[in-house]
Amino acid sequence: MTRHELRTPRLSLRAWRDSDREPYAAMNADPEVMRWFPSTMSREQSDAGIDRFSAHHDEHGYTAWALEVLDSDRGAAPFVGFLGLVRPTFDPPFSHPVPCVEIGWRLARPWWGLGLATEAGSAALRFAFLEAGLPEVISFTVPPNIRSQAVMQRLGLRYDGVFAHPRATAGEWWGPHVLYRAAADDPPAPTDPSGRTHS
Ligand SMILES: CC(C)(COP(=O)(O)OP(=O)(O)OC[C@H]1O[C@@H](n2cnc3c(N)ncnc32)[C@H](O)[C@@H]1OP(=O)(O)O)[C@@H](O)C(=O)NCCC(=O)NCCS
Repeated sequence: MTRHELRTPRLSLRAWRDSDREPYAAMNADPEVMRWFPSTMSREQSDAGIDRFSAHHDEHGYTAWALEVLDSDRGAAPFVGFLGLVRPTFDPPFSHPVPCVEIGWRLARPWWGLGLATEAGSAALRFAFLEAGLPEVISFTVPPNIRSQAVMQRLGLRYDGVFAHPRATAGEWWGPHVLYRAAADDPPAPTDPSGRTHS
């Protein structure tokens, strides 16, 4: 399968490289970045994540791409996080077309506040609907993760209620998740490549 890569004015959404392993593990060990996840990640867990994303890229042609900043107010950087399209590793407890494809993101702390997630997310959604022919893309997070929901809302995804994450046991704080959706036949409001909405 062709391994697609995407470009935006400031970013490359590219295949993972071995040189990403160290900065990816550092990002996953940062408690602020991982605040709304059950825990930070070890180097082994982080490496396993890269291996899964690379295998997904080979198998499906898209993935959670490694994000490289080509140019920004804070300069360039070969690796700042990931953003992309992945099939959840759990059986989703809500209605969905097959395949169920999630859009997700994680940026290293110094790269928040520049609109990079929204810019990359816009390109990934265009790819999902116009090139991959996916009927729907979903996104989810825990309710207090307001920054992530702000990205979903800027991208035009619509809130569709709460579900219990199947990997959480009853009563765990990270069990309840908010669900957002975007459908190809009712596409999200257009944004320009910088991620700003037109006024
Ligand atoms: C979720 C996450 C990716 C959001 O990052 P972010 O930087 O807030 O989101 P964006 O890249 O879209 O940037 C938006 C911000 O950049 C600002 N911005 C600056 N220049 C901009 C531009 N050219 N275009 C758009 N926005 C711009 C916006 O005003 C906004 O600022 P605000 O936070 O003060 O409102 C980040 O917080 C993160 O990685 N969190 C940890 C991992 C995580 O929780 N992932 C989701 C789990 S489901």
